[in-house]
Amino acid sequence: MRQPIENKVITPALDPTPRLLMGPGPIDVYPRVSRAMAMPMLGQFDPEFTGFMNETMELYRQVFRTRNQWTFLIDGTARAGIEACLGSLIAHGDKVLVPMFGRFGHLLAEIAFRAGGHVISIEAEWGTVFTTDQIAEAVRHHRPRVLALVHGDTSTTMMQPFEGLAEVCRETDTLFYSDATASIAGNPFDTDTLGLDAVSTGLQKCMSGPPGTSPITLSDRAAAVIDNRRHIEGGIKPEGAVDATGPRITSNYLDLAMIMDYWSPKRLNHHTEATSMLYAAHECARVVLEEGLDTGQARHRLTSRALRGGLEAMGLKLFGDAENRMANVTGVVIPDVCGDGEALRAAMLNDFGIEIGTSFGPLAGKIWRIGTMGYVCRKANVLRCLASLDASLRRSGYEAPANAGIDAAYDVYDEAGA
Ligand SMILES: Cc1ncc(COP(=O)(O)O)c(C=O)c1O
Repeated sequence: MRQPIENKVITPALDPTPRLLMGPGPIDVYPRVSRAMAMPMLGQFDPEFTGFMNETMELYRQVFRTRNQWTFLIDGTARAGIEACLGSLIAHGDKVLVPMFGRFGHLLAEIAFRAGGHVISIEAEWGTVFTTDQIAEAVRHHRPRVLALVHGDTSTTMMQPFEGLAEVCRETDTLFYSDATASIAGNPFDTDTLGLDAVSTGLQKCMSGPPGTSPITLSDRAAAVIDNRRHIEGGIKPEGAVDATGPRITSNYLDLAMIMDYWSPKRLNHHTEATSMLYAAHECARVVLEEGLDTGQARHRLTSRALRGGLEAMGLKLFGDAENRMANVTGVVIPDVCGDGEALRAAMLNDFGIEIGTSFGPLAGKIWRIGTMGYVCRKANVLRCLASLDASLRRSGYEAPANAGIDAAYDVYDEAGA
């Protein structure tokens, strides 16, 4: 017979060691955002709270640079936003074109497949991106229902240019979806000018927030497709409500039609909005918009230039096609003397309290990824990172010219008058 559990062991309170998070995300949270998360709970239908929901929609319209009415949060990490968008747009057997240039393209293909899509993928070598013509040609050839494309793929640090793709999508009646989790706010991203139909993101990169909610935006075209699949669950269905004729969205939790009813003036109950995450998202957007999107992007570009200048002066090789690098994460080829680079990463973490990343799949143990995102994207952090990298490399047997990294970074800042 099993013994009853005696709850005698209480583990100590969590006391995380302060770190400087300079990996590919999550990154250090802006203190104003952490404070916002400690605000009191409100009931989900309290008019004050629904007012905050409406404000959040308005703030994210500005972050996404869109007029889309349907701009709101999906509770869950960035992956939940991806699944909500793809699962609500793709019906069984729909063709989905996924150009893949890194790990997150594979993720889109996987999610589209699970949503019942007939996935057609094309691949670019990791460290490169596609030309517009390559994608346009594939769209014209396959005429997919959805083009699903990562904007900035953190696994390779590359950013795919989107210009010209919306026109081809209109021509072929294709919905254009993008995962902009890693790029939004740190790189130029204008939803309406780029002609996107659906975009999903997260907070834990250039938005300076924690993982746990996914801001998304949907064009009227995308909203119409979703409206045509609205099936309201029993128990909350208003009298006289008639389901749409399109196929039911297979996930209940990530059913955008029902989530839109919750975020609309109907306030039809779905999940309980993750109150503290909404507070976080609200404050993240305020932080980003107060600085100004263009100013924030310029800060990301300058910081990356300083970091990259420093790394190259230390004799390290930057990874990937220089034309298409994201402005918020830098790939560095791990020098032979450091093996798979894990011992150096451990030294950076344990001796200096700085986290940097490695990568996935073919790039695991081949590159380090250094993030300069959001709240972390500052001169002091670049200098701290270069100094500790220099010391850690030296102890691994890699000799960089003395102070070369720091000096080169200073040069970039001096030249910029920053
Ligand atoms: C481009 C991209 N998409 C999606 C994700 C997945 O985000 P999450 O782990 O929050 O689900 C990440 C996370 O690193 C990412 O960089």
